[in-house]
Amino acid sequence: MAFRVRSPCQPSKIVSLYLISLTLVSVLNTTFGERELKFVTLVYRHGDRSPIKAYPTDPYQESAWPQGFGQLTQVGMKQHFELGQTLKRRYKGFLNETYDRHQIVVRSTDCDRTLMSAEANLAGMYPPNGSQVFNPDLKWQPIPVHTVPLDEDRLLTFPLPNCPRFDVLLNETTKTETFLNMTNRYKDFIEMLRNKTGLKDASVESVWSVHDTLYCEKLHNKRPPHWVTSDVMEKLRKLKDFSFQVMFGVYKREEKSRLQGGVLLAQILKNITESAVSGSKKQMKMMMYSAHDTTVVALQTALNVFSGRQPTYASCHIFELYKEDDGFFSVAMFFRNDSTKEPYPLTLPNCTQYCPLQDFLRLTNPVIPENWEAECRVPSGLKEKEVIIGLIAFALLLFFLIGLLLFMLCRQQDAKNSYRHVINEADDNS
Ligand SMILES: *[C@@H]1O[C@H](CO)[C@@H](O)[C@H](O)[C@H]1NC(C)=O
Ligand SMILES: *[C@@H]1O[C@H](CO)[C@@H](O)[C@H](O)[C@H]1NC(C)=O
Ligand SMILES: *[C@@H]1O[C@H](CO)[C@@H](O)[C@H](O)[C@H]1NC(C)=O
Ligand SMILES: *[C@@H]1O[C@H](CO)[C@@H](O)[C@H](O)[C@H]1NC(C)=O
Ligand SMILES: *[C@@H]1O[C@H](CO)[C@@H](O)[C@H](O)[C@H]1NC(C)=O
Ligand SMILES: *[C@@H]1O[C@H](CO)[C@@H](O)[C@H](O)[C@H]1NC(C)=O
Ligand SMILES: *[C@@H]1O[C@H](CO)[C@@H](O)[C@H](O)[C@H]1NC(C)=O
Ligand SMILES: *[C@@H]1O[C@H](CO)[C@@H](O)[C@H](O)[C@H]1NC(C)=O
Repeated sequence: MAFRVRSPCQPSKIVSLYLISLTLVSVLNTTFGERELKFVTLVYRHGDRSPIKAYPTDPYQESAWPQGFGQLTQVGMKQHFELGQTLKRRYKGFLNETYDRHQIVVRSTDCDRTLMSAEANLAGMYPPNGSQVFNPDLKWQPIPVHTVPLDEDRLLTFPLPNCPRFDVLLNETTKTETFLNMTNRYKDFIEMLRNKTGLKDASVESVWSVHDTLYCEKLHNKRPPHWVTSDVMEKLRKLKDFSFQVMFGVYKREEKSRLQGGVLLAQILKNITESAVSGSKKQMKMMMYSAHDTTVVALQTALNVFSGRQPTYASCHIFELYKEDDGFFSVAMFFRNDSTKEPYPLTLPNCTQYCPLQDFLRLTNPVIPENWEAECRVPSGLKEKEVIIGLIAFALLLFFLIGLLLFMLCRQQDAKNSYRHVINEADDNS
């Protein structure tokens, strides 16, 4: 619980750290050998869950789900247990087989399903062995998962709240041609949805929840109403994927990213850079974030590697920091969104799969906020006018005070002179 979010990372700090690392690298330039893994950052989505809500005419309301809405199911637990086992294999020889608290930090959003996903994942990753077994009947050991309250989370819960400039950008997005086109194309479909679901405010942006509900119900063998054909599901899926893009992309992607995914990216790159700088002194090897589809989309949109499809359950974005045989560092990214396949390599645009750290920092710099609070502020016309009037009044007052001061000083000087004159005269007299 002591895990605190710091304010968004200042790029100047990253740059100076990077400069230090460059000097280090030139010193270590004589090292030869293989590409060596140094540090891993994971950002994953929770596993399979019950729907977040039901639509008004839905035959399956909250009581149809064993733990109610938005909860991790046993399918979800298995998905994360499996991901944990995969990570254990992937990082064999890098991480200790047994849990070592100096090597890994886990942070989750403060939601039941993400906390439970992290726990299921760690159960797959660190089954106790030897001296770590505390109960012979239990292939499990406790491992800490840190979190902060949702309303204080400025890292993993998206969209990040209290950012007026982002609200303005979202509003402007709904006026773009892309958005209006989509709204137009699906007008009749949305009208039909309104009628069938009983949702009064159904729109391109809000239908994602209808898809989400029907999708969860289908996965859990709950028979859908007659109007839900495969064509309807396909249209709903397209609209839902589009709603993720509307949120973080479509319009002014870079500026939106500075206010959203760039905040998380800044923290991740800060840690990666610190790890490169500190070399082998640091024992920390893995940072693990348990979060949501929106977290993964915000991050991947900031990196400009988002495929446009909603991240699947337990999908995992991987950053790996390597030390190349010439002593320089590189960052490779992967996305594991299919348990039957090797993770997909993701390449930062204009870089290579093993992107030199210096290039990675330079290419992502446009989406790293310098001062999140300031960038989120909206200049209101009225306020600006008030500030200018205030400044003019202040300048006039200052001008007047300086004038007054000069005048008084002159007067004092005159008085002193005449006083000295008197004293001098007195001196003469004595
Ligand atoms: C981790 O592995 C290293 C090398 O194998 C070993 O020296 C160290 O004791 C291990 N740490 C723990 C906590 O098991
Ligand atoms: C437990 O450790 C022993 C010895 O280090 C090893 O041979 C065995 O495979 C480990 N078992 C598991 C389940 O990891
Ligand atoms: C978008 O901005 C306009 C003014 O530019 C305002 O009238 C409208 O209410 C805003 N819409 C939303 C959804 O905030
Ligand atoms: C909008 O739709 C029209 C036709 O439906 C198409 O020609 C045009 O390219 C679309 N514009 C955008 C920005 O998607
Ligand atoms: C849907 O449309 C039908 C026929 O127009 C109407 O009878 C029904 O009340 C509508 N349902 C809702 C929920 O609006
Ligand atoms: C990464 O950042 C967190 C704080 O956000 C810190 O606790 C952790 O030690 C950092 N890890 C490294 C390797 O710098
Ligand atoms: C998995 O991720 C890759 C790379 O982003 C993407 O091309 C693919 O469509 C994704 N698969 C699914 C099922 O989302
Ligand atoms: C990638 O390189 C091309 C050509 O050099 C340039 O036009 C583009 O803006 C670059 N993109 C990024 C993300 O830097």
